[in-house]
Amino acid sequence: MLQQSFELALESKVGKGGIPDAAFEKALVDLKPALAKLQGQAKDGSLPLLKLPSDTADLAPVKAAAERLKTRGATDILVLGTGGSSLGGQTLAQLTGYGIAGLSQFAHGPHVHFIDNLDPATYAALLAKLPLKTTKFIAISKSGGTGETLLQSIAAIEALRAAGCPETAIGEHFQGLSEPAKPGKLHPLRALLEPFGTPFLEHHTDVGGRYSVLTNCGLLPAAVLGLNIEALRAGAARAVAPLFAGKDVRETPSAVGAALHLAAMRSGKNIAVLMPYADKLALLTRWWMQLWAESLGKDGQGTQPVGALGPVDQHSQQQLYLAGPKDKFFTVVTTGVKGEGPKIDASLAQTIGQGDFAGKTIGDMVAAQGVAMIDTFAKNGCAVRRFHVDAIDETTHGEMLMHFMLETILTGYAMGVDPFDQPAVEEAKILAKRYLAEGRA
Ligand code: PA5
Repeated sequence: MLQQSFELALESKVGKGGIPDAAFEKALVDLKPALAKLQGQAKDGSLPLLKLPSDTADLAPVKAAAERLKTRGATDILVLGTGGSSLGGQTLAQLTGYGIAGLSQFAHGPHVHFIDNLDPATYAALLAKLPLKTTKFIAISKSGGTGETLLQSIAAIEALRAAGCPETAIGEHFQGLSEPAKPGKLHPLRALLEPFGTPFLEHHTDVGGRYSVLTNCGLLPAAVLGLNIEALRAGAARAVAPLFAGKDVRETPSAVGAALHLAAMRSGKNIAVLMPYADKLALLTRWWMQLWAESLGKDGQGTQPVGALGPVDQHSQQQLYLAGPKDKFFTVVTTGVKGEGPKIDASLAQTIGQGDFAGKTIGDMVAAQGVAMIDTFAKNGCAVRRFHVDAIDETTHGEMLMHFMLETILTGYAMGVDPFDQPAVEEAKILAKRYLAEGRA
């Protein structure tokens, strides 16, 4: 269960530098209409994201696609897609060790690689090194028109051909995931892959990329990696439950979180830092940064999301965090690591002059560091809230993901911006396509 404690964010507890209590109280009031709107959407079903936790109809096709991808001795699965079509899958994959130094090589089953950044050297090297006969590709694009994903897919087809894959077998190497084609309109990804017989899963038309982690978009890679996708949805159900129960702002954790963010941004805290104390949550910060930035950076408003990781960033960012400008609102996520991990040998503890470490575990140390960091933030007048989960598993992760999505939506509603669009992103995409055609770069 995700527990949120926020008292230390407020001025009354941390003094100058905290979020003024009056600003928080005002934000709680301003959250009321935002919450009422979201509760209305829960009730009338007009925001499909909120119905996902109770929906299971789409899980069987996800599992079937995952099984198909893993058959015939698949050794590697490349997830092609960018932004919201990749970051959700990545944070889920990290529950199995993906992206954690040294751990992913011990994963059971095929190696899953997320190729979200278009880089010619990386992609060429990967295609050259992979055993292509046993490599599969999942091409994910909601719109079906994203240049990065299309170029990656074309390069993969060409690499398969060069490796001697017959035309009739190319489709077996792919799984598509995209919105249905619109009548009379070219759907580039389907036009590219369907002629090879590539099967497609339907991307939910009414759930946008950065909100799609709990749709088949995030769940397909999760299922390939053997995660319990039902539990992810069950966790998300916990986060939406207060909405369906019509709870008020103070009894709705996502609304309280949104009020804190709103009050923070109105009090000159232009930076929001998310700092989990667990490797398995490192990519959660990248997913959240996109969610926060793309949803709320509008009309000259928004705060800069920053992802940090504890305890390592205590040795990198802490000086600035504590002694730099008081322009940040910190969210620290601690986990139930007490007693976990290698135990410290008593005589070796003596050898390093730290007799107190004897018999303690590395988890004891990390638990102490997380709480010490939170207390140090507070003592130095930094606004900080804490989330705590006892275990990092599918259920708590699903709950956290949904919590952050709701918090973002509610903050956007209260700011008066549309948290679901991204008009500023399109401009550079269109220009890049033009420059590519004109050879102008
Ligand atoms: O969150 C978003 O909407 C974006 O990050 C998109 O997911 C990203 O641009 C990729 O778009 P698409 O899934 O259409 O290829």
